[in-house]
Amino acid sequence: MCGIVAYVGHQNASEIIIKGLKRLEYRGYDSAGIALMNDGLKVYKKQGKVSELEAHLKDKNTKSTIGIGHTRWATHGAPSDLNAHPHFSESGDLAIIHNGIIENYSSLKTDLENKGYTFKSETDSEVFINFIEDIYKNNDGTLEEAVRLALTKVIGAYAIVIMSTNHPNQLIAARKGSPLVIGVGKDEFFLASDATPIVEYTNEVIYVNDYEIALIKDGEISIRDTKDVKTTPYIQKVDMELEAIEKGGFEHFMLKEIFEQPKSIKDCFRGRLIADEAKLVLGGIRDYATALINAERIVIVACGTSWHAGLVAEYIFEEFCRIPVEVEYASEFRYRNPVIKEGDIVFAISQSGETADTLAAMELAKSKGAIVLGVCNVVGSSISRVSHEGVYTHAGPEIGVASTKAFTAQLTVLTMIALKTALRKGTIAEQRYREILVDLENIPKKVEKALKTDEQVKKIAEIYKDARNFLYLGRGYNFPVALEGALKLKEISYIHAEGYPAAEMKHGPIALIDEEMPVVVIATRDSSYDKIVSNIQEVKARKGKVIAVVSEGDSLIPGMVDHTIEVPGTHESLMPMVSTIPLQLLSYHIAVMRGCNVDQPRNLAKSVTVE
Ligand code: AGP
Ligand code: GLU
Repeated sequence: MCGIVAYVGHQNASEIIIKGLKRLEYRGYDSAGIALMNDGLKVYKKQGKVSELEAHLKDKNTKSTIGIGHTRWATHGAPSDLNAHPHFSESGDLAIIHNGIIENYSSLKTDLENKGYTFKSETDSEVFINFIEDIYKNNDGTLEEAVRLALTKVIGAYAIVIMSTNHPNQLIAARKGSPLVIGVGKDEFFLASDATPIVEYTNEVIYVNDYEIALIKDGEISIRDTKDVKTTPYIQKVDMELEAIEKGGFEHFMLKEIFEQPKSIKDCFRGRLIADEAKLVLGGIRDYATALINAERIVIVACGTSWHAGLVAEYIFEEFCRIPVEVEYASEFRYRNPVIKEGDIVFAISQSGETADTLAAMELAKSKGAIVLGVCNVVGSSISRVSHEGVYTHAGPEIGVASTKAFTAQLTVLTMIALKTALRKGTIAEQRYREILVDLENIPKKVEKALKTDEQVKKIAEIYKDARNFLYLGRGYNFPVALEGALKLKEISYIHAEGYPAAEMKHGPIALIDEEMPVVVIATRDSSYDKIVSNIQEVKARKGKVIAVVSEGDSLIPGMVDHTIEVPGTHESLMPMVSTIPLQLLSYHIAVMRGCNVDQPRNLAKSVTVE
């Protein structure tokens, strides 16, 4: 996964790169490194966080107006100083930063070893740079040509930036499958995995496309593809406020993002939802609105939290639009020869818009004639560009590795799409449609109220912070919320947690329940309320500790359970946006109390660009 940053211009490159790497640390934090041109190519790297690299650089002369930097999420070789990027070529002339995986690195490595190359690290990236050097040495062409030739032979995914001692003022960058953005300033260029390291210097960016190679030299940029055809860089304006990518007084990004949800949901429907006119405007999928109405089925592909949003969408689409929906893990879908027919609608849901499995699932669906619609948060991301059309969630940058505001924004977008489709299809009565739109417009206020449970949730966290297992139960629309609650807890607090449809408990997990087992039950007042009340009784009969999320004013459940958390009610299809809030807070507080790194949990990365 990893994050890459590079700079060439007239400013101090190391400052820009270190600051940029900190912004990209959500992408990986196994090690960090930087290469600068200062009396030759100098490389500094350290296992661990960017702050450790920064401390290591304190007494070094880091003056340079050109440089490349990397924060790593290890794929090939353990996290260590040696495996940290940048990597050098054998001669020491070339240095590379790489995000991605070179799948045929092993055969390339053997060939290079047979030619006498030796390797200092276990990474595929070091093989990559030596492969480029080998081509460069054995051909008459330029370094850029050697890079181009190498790229036609490597299999896998990459975003790379290369520096060369013999070409001290030039950067060569390329991408396939991993993201790369180039910020264009006045006689200076900023390269990065996303726009966050760039926006404080310039808002003019080029999103590099797959198979493109950029050469930046003497204040000019030229882009060619791997077939050596020149392309005209398309400079776009990126609309991102600096404060959106800073903590703004909160202790962690995750907490900031949880508390941002009333605003992020509003941002998501701003200009799209006009409840008093009963209007939904979704320009992003205008061309395929009719195809959606006529679709015989909808397939949703996604991973992790986005997959959970897909599960909620399944219930919504089936209820309102009467279109059969299948929700697929993108990683399974792509490898199992799925049945996709021309005209099928495939939704790809992704916060980052870069998830490798989701991208590959979309490509597969596209190749079989499906219409692929994206629901992405990151503007200009790969998934948004591969989609035929799509709707952005506009939740703003999500930096905490655990997804929170992106989830509620995804639910908002998917609900709007379903309601609009249902109205046009005639599968929802106009009165009901109007009512739900009003409810949707009121969700930010309800989320705000749900956030007021924070202190109470903190007290519950204190009681259960040392638990070794948690069970999360929900039914109907709240079943995916149970899955999401369990995922949040495991990823940031490292407590084992499982989410289940409450009625499935009796088919196995009930065996786990004893007086030690905290069971979080999402039991808001909806069509399965009576049933879930029985499930609570089943847990209590086995002495489990029940933490119930209930609707305001519930007078039945509080008498049965150990703790109740009240949230405001709404239409049951919208409930997940509200009922998920206390579960986000619970996992956050437990993780903090256990001393875990909430924003950068171990082994995880925000943007999973490897399969
Ligand atoms: C969420 O908390 C996780 N970190 C993870 O499951 C995430 O949702 C998943 O990797 C999908 O990412 P995407 O939405 O960027 O595609
Ligand atoms: N494959 C490279 C490595 O293991 C890059 C990893 C990444 O993109 O995170 O170092």
